[in-house]
Amino acid sequence: MIFKKIFSCNPMNSAIAHARVNLIGEHTDYTGGYVMPSLLPYSTKITIAENKEDNNHCAYSDFFNEKISFNNLTKSTSNDWLDFIKGCLLIFFKEKSNIRKTYFNFLIESNIPIGRGISSSSALCVATLKALNEYFETNYDKKYIAILAQKVERDYIGVSGGIMDQMVSSIGIQGKAFFLNCLSLKYELFDIPKDWIFYLVDSKVQRNLRESAYNERFDQLQKSEKILGVKNLGTVKLSFLKKDNFKDSTIYKRALHVVTENQRVLDAKKYLINNNIKKFGELMNLSHTSYSNDFEASTEDVDQIVNHSLKSGASGCRLTGGGFGGFTVSLIQKKDYDHWYNNMRKFYSEEKFFKV
Ligand code: GLA
Repeated sequence: MIFKKIFSCNPMNSAIAHARVNLIGEHTDYTGGYVMPSLLPYSTKITIAENKEDNNHCAYSDFFNEKISFNNLTKSTSNDWLDFIKGCLLIFFKEKSNIRKTYFNFLIESNIPIGRGISSSSALCVATLKALNEYFETNYDKKYIAILAQKVERDYIGVSGGIMDQMVSSIGIQGKAFFLNCLSLKYELFDIPKDWIFYLVDSKVQRNLRESAYNERFDQLQKSEKILGVKNLGTVKLSFLKKDNFKDSTIYKRALHVVTENQRVLDAKKYLINNNIKKFGELMNLSHTSYSNDFEASTEDVDQIVNHSLKSGASGCRLTGGGFGGFTVSLIQKKDYDHWYNNMRKFYSEEKFFKV
């Protein structure tokens, strides 16, 4: 037993949370719009037990092969993996101030590729909070766990993200599309038709740019809400978005992406239900064009993968996640898969491909 070997005590509770791929609906969640992600077969498992030896928490990450003891919950300056555990503890104890102060051992086992826009951090937070929820028998439901996980990332880590990743990681089911209204947090789960395949292809990641560019887009969309006099851009229809109202054409373009993207998510849901792969794929392509041209969140490497994928027979392809590199997601009909894969392999090595 790996837990016992590392911590010399028996494990008590554990929880698993998956990474996600967003099928359509990018940068719409924090504007109160719609998204449609799905879970990936990559996950993080957290196993915990009370540490009765001393007044310290201790965490071991199998991915980083690091074991660290800590007893203060202050964030480091580098946003490393331990900060997410510390943040979960802090937010959990804040939320439930009457629980007994407890020190824990944490084992983190994960096979999620890190820093590629498939939300390894949300999976880590959701799994940690679920394990604490079990230990303390606090009975928070999955939606509430997602809200707490978002608090960890926003209030503790300090990144301005939406609620998509945490919601799907906490509530989603593999093999199903998770349609979410990010304002009401109402969701629906839809089967992905059996003859559809989604595939990820990894691109180069512009890591440094990612966080700052994400925050810049976040601010630009907030500005557009001010200009339009609305609380949530996600509720705005295209007819209400007049170019003349915007002095700054960049802000207009960012808002245009979000407003059209929301409509695409609503349409995509319709085509998914009707098993219309052609139309769903077309929406993914339109989504990518808008993400690349109006939101300017793509890269040359990504655009090249999208072109190759479509030429190789994918029904649709787009950049998924926060932008500026990471994974593309391709929609392929089962009968076209062999041709698509063999052709794509002429350009990309085997380890770049990840099946959904
Ligand atoms: C990141 C954020 C999400 C969402 C996406 C873009 O993954 O964590 O909340 O905003 O980017 O759609």
